[in-house]
Amino acid sequence: MATRLLGMRGGGPEARPSSRDPVRAAPPGVAAAPAAWYPTGMPPPYERHLFICTNRRPDGAPRPSCAARGSEAIRDAFKKELAARGLNHRIRANASGCLDGCECGPSVVVYPEGFWYGELKLEDVPEIVEEHLVGGRPVERLRMKFDEVARRRGAGTKLPQTP
Ligand code: FES
Repeated sequence: MATRLLGMRGGGPEARPSSRDPVRAAPPGVAAAPAAWYPTGMPPPYERHLFICTNRRPDGAPRPSCAARGSEAIRDAFKKELAARGLNHRIRANASGCLDGCECGPSVVVYPEGFWYGELKLEDVPEIVEEHLVGGRPVERLRMKFDEVARRRGAGTKLPQTP
């Protein structure tokens, strides 16, 4: 057993989870994680993380917040959808604090790709799970528009770069 675990976690592309592994085997149709995702040679316990902003600012705050736009229900829908597909042990949907895309929230970022979603609606969740998380094709029409975030926030704003 120890040898097997060391073999799995020993580093390099060959250290990726085996399709024969009963715990980490990918269900049919789920995009495989690139070997480059494990640069330390230690596979993470999750292949993808979703950070879903559930920040809520006080009423009257100068900037909007994602929770006021329904992000808590979006987080719950991601969790429910992933669990229903048996993917919740491979893909983690986390509530997060402010991701600084407030003006175009609800904001979600998916790692390790670093793909940002903005202005999400509850009905977008199944498409993101099916197309991106299962199919490996990020949903371009829902990509966060950082230029729009900056425009709404005002000139001189420093924002993350869209990959
Ligand atoms: S409040 Fe959600 S990104 Fe800032």
